[in-house]
Amino acid sequence: MNEEQKITYKQRYTQAKQKGVSFWPDIIYKDLLMTFGIFLFLVGLAAFVGVPLDPKADPSDSNYIPRPEWYFLFLFEFLKYVPGKLEWVGTIVIPGIAVAALFLLPFYDKSPIRYWKKRKVGLSIMGVIVLAMIGLTVRAVATTPEQAEVTVANSIREQVILGQDNYSVQCVECHGPDGEGGEILGVEGLEGVTVKSISSRDEMYTRSDQTLFAIVNYGQQDLGMPPYGLAYGGPLSKAEIEAIVAFMRYTWDDRAELPAEAAIAAPPTWEEGMIPSYEIEISKIVMRNCVSCHRPGKENNNYLMQSYQEMLTTGDNVDKNLIAGDLNSYLYQTIAGNAILDANGEVLIHQMPLTKIMKEEYIKMFEAWILNGMPETAEEAEALSATPEPEP
Ligand code: HEC
Ligand code: HEC
Repeated sequence: MNEEQKITYKQRYTQAKQKGVSFWPDIIYKDLLMTFGIFLFLVGLAAFVGVPLDPKADPSDSNYIPRPEWYFLFLFEFLKYVPGKLEWVGTIVIPGIAVAALFLLPFYDKSPIRYWKKRKVGLSIMGVIVLAMIGLTVRAVATTPEQAEVTVANSIREQVILGQDNYSVQCVECHGPDGEGGEILGVEGLEGVTVKSISSRDEMYTRSDQTLFAIVNYGQQDLGMPPYGLAYGGPLSKAEIEAIVAFMRYTWDDRAELPAEAAIAAPPTWEEGMIPSYEIEISKIVMRNCVSCHRPGKENNNYLMQSYQEMLTTGDNVDKNLIAGDLNSYLYQTIAGNAILDANGEVLIHQMPLTKIMKEEYIKMFEAWILNGMPETAEEAEALSATPEPEP
């Protein structure tokens, strides 16, 4: 800008200032242009960027930690310093005063000075407020507890696996590992009740996913089926029940085809001469057949089977349940169908599982496992396979 330009600019500026700029239509026109620009920008954002969806809201999920959007966090944090009784002051009065102060600014601040360095009072007040807002926001972020990992299965495969796990723990004691049903034994209050198969065609072809969900969620309480939904006092979230339903559908309904990549690991199979490990074979068999009765919270037994350690260190007969190399171990005898009798000839422990003896190949796996010293990991079992098998 040369001298001449500067002078004309200043002249035009003084003229314009004397003349003034009218609010309508000049200022309104500028505002309109700006608003329209922002509007287009927002439309663009909505069309091309979008907002990611969180998982569906679940009113029965008590783990969720609600927080406002980031631009309200400072207010949220500020409220933490306001005692409960005075909440109305923190939520209405103070923000109200702040907004009113801004609103009334033109009426009480009539100073013509616009150069920022000369506006010490205004600047310091606003400075303090902005700093407080930043500080409170940072504090709010820092003190927000980590959102607990919600067990949400993202693919059908994950869903079916999660469902299998939950089915094994929650349902097997009454419905059997394959949903086959039969007479319930060893479940407090339901001894002798016979349940029909829930894996049959009759069941699968006539029950929709919604129906199955509703049955598991609410139970069939008159018939002895307990409620599982959190909303009815049960232990399972909505996502976990949905996973059980997916497991049932894809495992038992011969019309439902599991996408090839979603096929779940088949239960272990017996091969002559194999040495099973807890890690690969035994844990899977136990999960499918025993854990639903042998876990914390059961009143009719205290033998826990959810880990290798538990299997070796819990129960009334800790020193007799599992003995390496000894097929007289209670666990082996009971799964082979022999009840354990006490000194008076009374049944001390029934056959296991109470309801139905397992497939023969599972029993053979337990046999080989016990005879080979009950290896925990796949490596240990492998190392044993390399050396000649000990004779029983
Ligand atoms: C304490 C025993 C018990 C447990 C545990 C249990 N159920 Fe049931 N369930 C029953 C009884 C009893 C019925 C009544 C139906 C019958 O008599 O055949 C039933 C009925 C059902 C039915 C309805 C059959 C029909 O179509 O009428 C389904 C489906 C079912 N259960 C699924 C499950 C699932 C899934 C689980 C695990 C989350 C589970 N149950 C856990 C005892 C149990
Ligand atoms: C339907 C419930 C149920 C299932 C399934 C079940 N058990 Fe049991 N188990 C019991 C009950 C109840 C007892 C207590 C003794 C009794 O009543 O016979 C018991 C006791 C035992 C004991 C004796 C524990 C001790 O220290 O006294 C062993 C060992 C055992 N079970 C092994 C197994 C194995 C292995 C499986 C899976 C193949 C299994 N159980 C499946 C209900 C069950």
